[in-house]
This record gives sequence, structure tokens and C-alpha cells, in this order.
Amino acid sequence: MNAPPVATPTFTRLPRHIAIVMDGNGRWAQQRGRRRSVGHRVGARSIREITEECARLGVERLTLYAFSAENWKRPKPEIRFLMNLLARYLVKERGTILDNNVQLAAIGRIGELPGLVQRRLAELIDVSSRNDGLTLCLALNYGGRTEIVDAARRAMQLAKDDALEPDALDERTFADLLYAGPGVADPDLLIRTGGDCRVSNFLLWEISYAEIYVTDTQWPDFRAPALHAAIREFERRDRRFGGLND
Ligand code: IPE
Ligand code: IPE
Ligand code: MG
Repeated sequence: MNAPPVATPTFTRLPRHIAIVMDGNGRWAQQRGRRRSVGHRVGARSIREITEECARLGVERLTLYAFSAENWKRPKPEIRFLMNLLARYLVKERGTILDNNVQLAAIGRIGELPGLVQRRLAELIDVSSRNDGLTLCLALNYGGRTEIVDAARRAMQLAKDDALEPDALDERTFADLLYAGPGVADPDLLIRTGGDCRVSNFLLWEISYAEIYVTDTQWPDFRAPALHAAIREFERRDRRFGGLND
């Protein structure tokens, strides 16, 4: 049975870009005597609900940490399960994405993912590219340090090709070389579920001034009301960016 629809509240200050470390799937399942994979499957439903809610609220970008560059250290069967779940997600959620005017994007070393995932990802990115609502960006085989190294490599290549003067490289031009490409605003709000107070190599460059919100709620339980609570907390934060507010 589906949960009753939650009324969409209004917010006076909505984050333009929300990034989420979707953690706690395994523990959620283990606490219920189930296999870790069950937690990942229920977590995929949270992805759907949070995507729909962000689209409804008018959030511009939602970046979800779905598979880190370090997650290859996990047991082979869990990696295989996650990659299959992702491949199935990209077919099953096509309707959710298109019906909600969502544009799909991805960051990370995408070329190292299984071929089927790459093809389905490219297809859904392509068919959703004309949408102009929420951008849902999946971080896949993503590492923050790797992203910075890859951007530095691109900068060096541009310099070698005489397309960039070393002195012309500044924070703006460097940020344009990150995976998401030019013109993407940094996350305003970084949420981590599962209770661990760490960033686990997520968006190291981009979160320099993000408001950080850690909740003990595990990702499979993180639904619209939990998102609203995070945004309410964000509204209470005094963002100074190193300056002074009255
Ligand atoms: C997050 O849940 C999902 C991925 C990292 C793919 P975990 O699988 O890390 O769950 P916990 O942290 O072990 O509970
Ligand atoms: C972070 O969770 C990665 C994703 C949510 C995809 P992890 O479970 O991999 O992080 P650690 O190992 O607890 O730092
Ligand atoms: Mg974890």
C-alpha cells in the first residue's frame, strides 16, 4: 500500500542545489534481519520520492551519491547487485523522470561503469535533455579527489594545446572543468543520512560553503517529511560566507 500523499509545504528559503550522501541502506536491512540488498532496493524508492518532491518544490538540482569510486572495495555480489539495480532503475524510472519534467545528468568516471549501465544512462540523459525542471544528477563511480585530478588533467591538456594560459586559470575556470561542466551552482545543502558525520570523498570542491545536515534516519526511511525537516533546518542557518550579517 502506498503511503498517503504528503502536503507540500512552502519554504521562504529553498536551497537551489541539494546534494545527498544516501547512506544506511545496509544497516536498515540488517536491523530488520534482511539482506543488505533489500535495503538498496527500498532505497531506490526513496530516490523516486525525493526526486518527485524536489521537482514539486522547485529545487533546481539534486545530486545523489549513488556509487563512490571507493565502493568497488565491496564484495563482488553486492557490486553486481548495485549495478543491476542501477540498470533496472534507469528503465523503471523513465516515467518518473519524464512525467516530472526532470533532466537526468551524471558525474563520475562513467566510462568505467558496466556497458549496459552506460548505454541506459546515455539514453535517459538524451531523452530527458529537453526537460527544463529539476536536474537529477547521479554521482556514479564518483570520487571527489578523482574529480579534482581529472579537472587538473584537463587544464594541463588545454594549456598544452594553447587553449588556456596558466595565469588565466582561476577558481571559476577550474570549476568549469569539473564533471558537471560550466554554469552549475554549488550545493547549498548537503544532507547525509545514516548518521555518520563525514563527507566520504563527495563533492570536495563544490561543498566549500554548503550547509551540512546529518540525520540518523537511514536512506530507505528518508522520504518527503524527512526532506522537509532538512530544508526547515537549512532555513534557520545563517550563511555568512566568511562575511558578516547584521
Ligand atoms: C549506501 O548504503 C548505498 C551505497 C553506498 C551504495 P550502504 O550500503 O553504505 O549502507 P550502510 O552504510 O552499510 O548501512
Ligand atoms: C558513501 O557511503 C557513498 C555513497 C553513499 C554512495 P559509504 O557507505 O560508501 O561511506 P563510508 O564507507 O561509510 O565512508
Ligand atoms: Mg554506508
